[in-house]
Parts: sequence; C-alpha cells; structure tokens
Amino acid sequence: MQYIFAKPVDWNIKNLLFSAFAAAKAEQRMENEIRRMYGIQQIKSASLGRTALKAGLNALPFAENSRILIPDIVCPTVIYTILKAGYRPLLCDVEDDLHISVRTISGICRHQDIRMILVPHLYGLNAPIDEIRKYCRDAGIFLIDDAAQAVGLKYRGQYLGTYGDMGLLSFGPYKNIGISRGGFLFWNDQNLFLHTKHAELKTESFPDVWKRLLSCLLKLHYGRPFFLSFQEMKKKKTDKHCDQKRLPPAIPEEEDYKLSAPEANLIRCALKQMDSIFTKRLQTARDLIKKLKQLEGIECLASEKIPHVKIPIRLSCGISAASAVDFLRSLKIEAERIYCPLHLREGFGHYAAAALPQSEKLWEQVILIPNPVRSGRPGISGIRKAFEQMLKKAGRI
Ligand SMILES: Cc1ncc(COP(=O)(O)O)c(C=O)c1O
Repeated sequence: MQYIFAKPVDWNIKNLLFSAFAAAKAEQRMENEIRRMYGIQQIKSASLGRTALKAGLNALPFAENSRILIPDIVCPTVIYTILKAGYRPLLCDVEDDLHISVRTISGICRHQDIRMILVPHLYGLNAPIDEIRKYCRDAGIFLIDDAAQAVGLKYRGQYLGTYGDMGLLSFGPYKNIGISRGGFLFWNDQNLFLHTKHAELKTESFPDVWKRLLSCLLKLHYGRPFFLSFQEMKKKKTDKHCDQKRLPPAIPEEEDYKLSAPEANLIRCALKQMDSIFTKRLQTARDLIKKLKQLEGIECLASEKIPHVKIPIRLSCGISAASAVDFLRSLKIEAERIYCPLHLREGFGHYAAAALPQSEKLWEQVILIPNPVRSGRPGISGIRKAFEQMLKKAGRI
C-alpha cells in the first residue's frame, strides 16, 4: 500500500525554476502582495514566523518579565520566542475545540497581571478571536492574533491574523500555504511598526537557501514516501512515534534572517494559486470527514468549510491517541498527535497558571490525520478502512 500523507508544500520544481531568477526586489513585491490581500499597510517580512514574532515582541513597550498568556496547546516555537524576547509566558487551559476562550483567559486575568495574550488558530481552525478581541480591548491587554497556521483563512468575513494589535503569518512547510520559509508580522500601531520596520535581519547565504529548497523538494515533495519508510524503519528500532515530551528545554539558537528572494517569489506564486489549492483540499477534506463521521466513537473537530492540511479527529471510543497513531502509521497513514501540552514538556511545567485538565484530556484523545489530497479517492477509502479496522481491533464494532 502507498503511503497516505498530507501535501507538505504547495509548489513544485517548475515554480522553483521560475523563482531561481527572482530579483532582489522579490521581498518587497511579496510584502505589497500581502498588503493588497490583507488590507494592512504596516507589514514586516522575515525568513520565519518566529523571527517576525520576536522582532514584534522586542518592539513592545512592556518591561522585562511582563506576563504573556498563551494556550497550553501550541507549537513550542511560540514559547521559545517569548522567552527569547524576555517575557514570562503563562499557560492557559483550552476549550474542547483546542483553543482558548474568554472563559479560560478571564479566569487567569482576574488573578494575574497579564499584559499580552497570544491567540493561535491551530490546524486551520479558528479561536473565538472576535470575542477575545473585545475582552482584550475592555481590559487593556495587547492582543497578538497568530495566524501562522491559518494563512488565507477568514473568520466572519475578516482574515485571521488581522484581529489583533499585532498579527502573524507563516509559510513553513505544512502550513496552510506551505512553502519552506516565510513569516509576516502585521501592525495596527504606526509607531510600533516603525520600531520593527528597520529591525536588523541578516541575509542568508545563497548556498544555504538553495540547500534548504532542494532538500524540501526531495524530502517533502517528490521523495516523501521513501523518507517516511526510512523514518518508520528507524522508529521501529528506537521508540514510539508519539513522545514529544523530551524536547530539550534549551532555547534553540536560530539566526534572524530576511526572507530570501526565491522563497518570497514562491510565496507569491502559491498565493496566486490559493483558490485552486484550497478548492482541491476542501473537496478531499469534506469527503473524508463525511466518511469518518459515520463511524461511532470518531468525532471530527475539523470543519467541512476549512481546507485543512491535517485533519483533527477526536477519539471518543476509548482508544488512546498514542495507540491510534501507532496503528495508523503501521498501515502507512501519516497520522500524528497534536502538540503535546507545554506544561507536560520538560522544563515548562512551572509556566502553568493553574491546573490544565482540558488540554491533558485533548492530548490523550485528539489525533491529526493527513488530508489525502494527493492520493484522492483511494486515500479517502484507505483512511476510512483503517479506522474501521482500528475500531474492530479494539472491539468497538
Ligand atoms: C501558532 C504558531 N505560531 C508561530 C509559529 C512559528 O512559525 P515559523 O515556523 O514560521 O517560525 C508556528 C510554527 O509552527 C506556529 O504554529
């Protein structure tokens, strides 16, 4: 059986060849394209979302160790970036839909002096950002609308990423528009923007950019099945797939680079094709969700209206997320667990503001399955059959 995996990058060798000749002005043209699309003038681009976020955090007028509230379930680069910027993160529990809400944040804000809140939209789903915005405005809290995982997606007619005092987009692989790199910061406030506009970012060397692009093409695009088989062999010899807790608590060192010209151009190419990328992805996501919804004990957190790259599924059938991922991987389906709650990771437990029972429950119950946009119908029925087999094996059907 062929591997079923999500499409990690939304470009191909033709786009890359075209981008090879991108002029030095590509970054500026890309920024203009984002300005036009998002209707926001104050934009700063960088090689990575975390670089743009760090530049933004550094420009804020808050004292060192000021508190910033973030969800317990989020990509760990977020907490690393906050620590690098010198602020103190506080972890907030999430709701059943994986996101923080006015209910969960207000419980903490009543007792702690919170200056900033960062709200991500995970796996293309959205947090209740308009209610959170209202809460933050009333409470005088600075809001960061982190749409790193929701590029091109709107909520109530407005682009995610534009709801906050500051906003973020990312174009890493597996993002909603997957390139290899790319981060954009949005500002509401002109003065704060001017602080980041001229933030010093280095230019990455030509060989480093091309090494990354070619390895992306080989590892994530054309050679993905071989890479996954190799990874599977290695994992069998070592550990299970699911242990994310042992991430080192050290803050990984990364250089702060500008967005490279070829990557800026690749983003521009992909944005031009965004509608067709989303339409294809929506179709397979919708068909798969319909099929899985028929199974008892399998709930889709995903929405049929979102072009998910990875589809979040809740197992209410009693099978644990860890064993489900192992089982699906043994059938060559690239399933994975959601982000491990930060307070369970080594070195981050003391950032919990209170008990975080809901995020622990979601960690045990929710998994991600790939949107089988590459494998089409056979992929959809392959995943459905795998879920049936899993439920049968566990004696649930
Ligand atoms: C919610 C969120 N914010 C920020 C980032 C950082 O983006 P990047 O990987 O481009 O640095 C990520 C990365 O996955 C993310 O998921």
